[in-house]
Amino acid sequence: MRIGIFDSGYGGLTILDSIRKRLPGYDYVYLGDNARAPYGTRSFEVIYRYTWQAVRYLFEQDCALIILACNTASAKALRTIQQHDLPEVWARDNGQMRTQDLRRVLGVIRPTVESVPAQTSSGHVGILGTPGTISSDSYPIELHKVCPDLTVVQQACPMWVPLIESGEHRNDGADWFVAKYLNELLARDPQIDTIVLGCTHYPLLLPKIQRQLAGLPIRLVCQGDIVADRLADYLQRHADLRGVLSQGGQCRYLTTEDADKFRQSASVFLSELIDVTRVEL
Ligand code: DGL
Repeated sequence: MRIGIFDSGYGGLTILDSIRKRLPGYDYVYLGDNARAPYGTRSFEVIYRYTWQAVRYLFEQDCALIILACNTASAKALRTIQQHDLPEVWARDNGQMRTQDLRRVLGVIRPTVESVPAQTSSGHVGILGTPGTISSDSYPIELHKVCPDLTVVQQACPMWVPLIESGEHRNDGADWFVAKYLNELLARDPQIDTIVLGCTHYPLLLPKIQRQLAGLPIRLVCQGDIVADRLADYLQRHADLRGVLSQGGQCRYLTTEDADKFRQSASVFLSELIDVTRVEL
């Protein structure tokens, strides 16, 4: 069986890349719902529905473990899937399948949050995310569970994902929107010394973000390596799951949009030629 990595579009590739470097032996399926991206401006109900469709689809593609490599989906859909939908799947499966075939779905917010307290000296943390992630308040809620004294300031960046999904993120016009949201965040709390890139698309804007913050004593938290380390740890602790995962070192790429378009955009930041299949969820 495989590990499924899901995102609304290209952003989850930043997580997949780190996971494959950390755990190269496993087989993966990447699914980008590019046809319906961005998710970040959609309602709770729609994000949940799209995410659960994608998770079910990945289960049908023989995935035993699915990483929601999307903060928006993690914020809006993960809890319902873990607490309501998965128990139903397990109940159905147990009638016909081995007990070790239990399916699991994990998100990216909790591992990220747990890494933050060790990184801030001022105790003032900025969160950048999609409107959906920011309005859910998932980051402040989870951060205050692990460290109640932190000051957490959030900033929604509604234009960043559309810039990336349309391939405009390397162009000069994107600088204006990078500066806009960073300036708005820092104006609200100049003591921020740690900024969480709380959307898996945002590392694709990293060169521009770093240029904008040059000279400021601010640490950026990117999620790829954090999530990869946590996944390695999770698999270490779950021998039953590890035992059903195949070890061919392969990755299949699926998109709900045009396969050629995905191949072209994805190959810019993946260092391999990839085969892409268009699918309907
Ligand atoms: N990569 C997704 C995230 O981490 C982007 C969501 C979107 O499609 O707006 O939130």
